[in-house]
Amino acid sequence: MSVTDGPETRHVRPATPAEATDVAAMHAANRAAWDEAAERYEGWLAEAIELIRGGGTNLFPEELELIGDLHGRCRRAVHLQCAGGRDTLSLWNLGADEVVGVDFSGRMLDLAQRLTQATGAPARWILADVLDTPHELDGTGDLVYTGRGSLLWLQDLDAWAAVVRRLLSPVGRLVLFEGHPIEWLFDVDEDGRWVATDYDYFAGPEASKGWAPEYIDRLSRDDADQSWKFARAWTLGEIVTAMARAGLRFERVTEHPRDWWGGHRDVRSDERGRIPLSFSVLARAQAL
Ligand SMILES: C[S@@+](CC[C@H](N)C(=O)[O-])C[C@H]1O[C@@H](n2cnc3c(N)ncnc32)[C@H](O)[C@@H]1O
Repeated sequence: MSVTDGPETRHVRPATPAEATDVAAMHAANRAAWDEAAERYEGWLAEAIELIRGGGTNLFPEELELIGDLHGRCRRAVHLQCAGGRDTLSLWNLGADEVVGVDFSGRMLDLAQRLTQATGAPARWILADVLDTPHELDGTGDLVYTGRGSLLWLQDLDAWAAVVRRLLSPVGRLVLFEGHPIEWLFDVDEDGRWVATDYDYFAGPEASKGWAPEYIDRLSRDDADQSWKFARAWTLGEIVTAMARAGLRFERVTEHPRDWWGGHRDVRSDERGRIPLSFSVLARAQAL
C-alpha cells in the first residue's frame, strides 16, 4: 500500500499475521534496510571523527546525567545497536576503559571500524543480531547503554531484556534513552499545533519502505525499491514489564519532552514541551 502524504508517497502497511509472528524474518528484513540506510551515516563520518577526536560526546544532557563520569568505574561499556559507533565512542570519551558495540549491519560496523582507526579508541565491534549477543560478554558490562531509536526495530522485547540482564556485571547499570511510544500518536498541523495521527498504539509491527525526511530521508535507491522494514511502538507498559520480568530493578524511569530526532521540530514554541517525546531508564540487575 502507498500512502500519499503531501508531495511524499510513503509505503506503509500493517505487518500480515504471518509476518508478525516471524521475528527472525522481520529482523532479517530490518538488517537489509539498515544496510541500505547506512549510506546516510557514511555522510556523517567526518563529523563523528571530529567530535570524538576532540574529546566530545554526542549524548543528551538527560543521558549524561544518568551515565555520569565513567573514569575509574567502567571497565567495559556495551552499546547495543551501536550503528556507526559515534555514541559508543562518546562513552569512551566519558571515561569507559573499553567500549563494545553490537549491531547487525555490516555496513554500519565498517563505519564504526573507520571511526576507531581514526581515533585510536579501544573499541570492539560485534556483528550480531542484538538478541544473539555473544555469551562471552555475559556479566562484563559495567554499563549497558542503548536506545535512540533502537527498541522499535526489535520484535521480541522479552528476549532483548534477557540479553541486557545477562550482560550486566555485578555492579553494572543499564542506561536506556529512547523515543516515547506516545510520539507515534502525534503530528503537527500547518499552524504547528499538535494533532492526533491515525496510528494505533496497540497495533504491533508495521511494515514500511522509505525513511522520515528529518532523519535518513532519501537514499540513492528509490523508496519503492528499498527493503521492507518492520517497526513498532512498544507501549511503555510492555517495555517496563519485559525489563521487570527479565530481572531488572528500576532506579529511575523518566519521561522527557526532548524531541530526540528532530521529528517534531515544526511544533510552535507555545505547544512545545507538553507531550513526552522520549523517556529514560536507569536499572540494575536484581540480586539472584
Ligand atoms: C537508530 S540506530 C540506533 C541509534 C544509534 N546510536 C545511532 O547512532 O543512530 C538503529 C540501529 O539498530 C540496528 N539494529 C536494528 N535492529 C537490530 C537488531 N535486531 N540487532 C542488532 N542491531 C539492530 C541498526 O542496524 C541501526 O544501526
